[in-house]
Amino acid sequence: MKEINITEQIKYIGVDDKTIDLFEGQYVVPNGISYNSYLIKDEKNVIMDTVDKRATEEWFKKLEKELENEKPDYLVVSHMEPDHAANIQKLTEKYPNMKIIGNEKTFTFIQQFFDIQKLEERKIVVKEGDTISTGKHTLQFFMAPMVHWPEVMVTYEQTEKILFTADGFGKFGTLDTDEEWTCEARRYYFNIVGKYGAQVQQLLKKAANLEIKTICPLHGPILKENLDFYIQKYDIWSKYEPEDEGVLIAYASIYGNTKEAAQEMVSILKEKGVEKIAITDLARDDMAEAIEDAFRYDKMILAASSYNMGVFPFMEQFLHHLQGKHFQNRKVGIIENGTWAPSAGKCMREILEKMRNIEICPTVVTIRSKMNEQNKKEMQQLAEEMIGGDNNEI
Ligand code: FEO
Repeated sequence: MKEINITEQIKYIGVDDKTIDLFEGQYVVPNGISYNSYLIKDEKNVIMDTVDKRATEEWFKKLEKELENEKPDYLVVSHMEPDHAANIQKLTEKYPNMKIIGNEKTFTFIQQFFDIQKLEERKIVVKEGDTISTGKHTLQFFMAPMVHWPEVMVTYEQTEKILFTADGFGKFGTLDTDEEWTCEARRYYFNIVGKYGAQVQQLLKKAANLEIKTICPLHGPILKENLDFYIQKYDIWSKYEPEDEGVLIAYASIYGNTKEAAQEMVSILKEKGVEKIAITDLARDDMAEAIEDAFRYDKMILAASSYNMGVFPFMEQFLHHLQGKHFQNRKVGIIENGTWAPSAGKCMREILEKMRNIEICPTVVTIRSKMNEQNKKEMQQLAEEMIGGDNNEI
């Protein structure tokens, strides 16, 4: 991988991981993930976070190369999740004079994960707005609780105007992946940070007071241009506003009859001129992408088979994910299927009713085993309600 310099004195020492099967134990990452880490070379050398244990060896090599026989004076711990913090123990053993910078919560978690010698003497506890000078650079710390864990903080380097944003503005995919930022950053955001929109809003307000030239996240590319574009995306996402007009059709089908209805719905919406339509098989496609698309668009149609007097579990799981991530402010249509006692619609509605500001279209399509002509008419009606405006708000 080619060398990445953030600035002359700030070096990238992160590592690409192309072989991980599931990031954070659950997310498929077809283009891998980067564990970003940075070294600020100055009168005092500062390491900004370590990396996952999967990348230990390569990271230490990069660190030593950039240190050029010097030693690190400080480690800033922005986030204690093991994809960034896994090497704290080893690093503190290798450099026994290095101090560790974190907040109260950081050190609570450090003691839970590690057993660091003389931690009391080595720790520097910072609070909101505190600064530490390293020579030419001044680091200022801002707390960002729950973006994505409670101890998260971001660091603003005042001289070169760099914001180190922890998980914020992160993206799936290694740094050498050639793909546009938005799609995988959105999937990352909603699945990992999506629950904490209010906290992201607070962080954005703090960031608005800073002049920022570069954003250095802990995953994904370093952002140097058009920063307003990325900040605006985060603003939309964290307010739970739809990003695009469009429809996600999410289906959970046992034998394919419910799938057929979902596909029919795609055709109907296309005929009616809807341009952006995504369809997902909740049993087979990436659930994280389904969640991303649900948040991306302003409308969603759910089509599911009945099962055990409830709904087919993949749909239930999807809706519980959405609920957990504070899904809100969307219009939803329901299609259920059941041969003798359709129960999927009721079950889906019950979960939707626990969410904020969800409009459910009045027409609920009930398929008895296999879609018939009457169902097709109802689906036309549902499509009209989806596109039009006369719905029930719950
Ligand atoms: Fe990349 Fe929340 O850790």
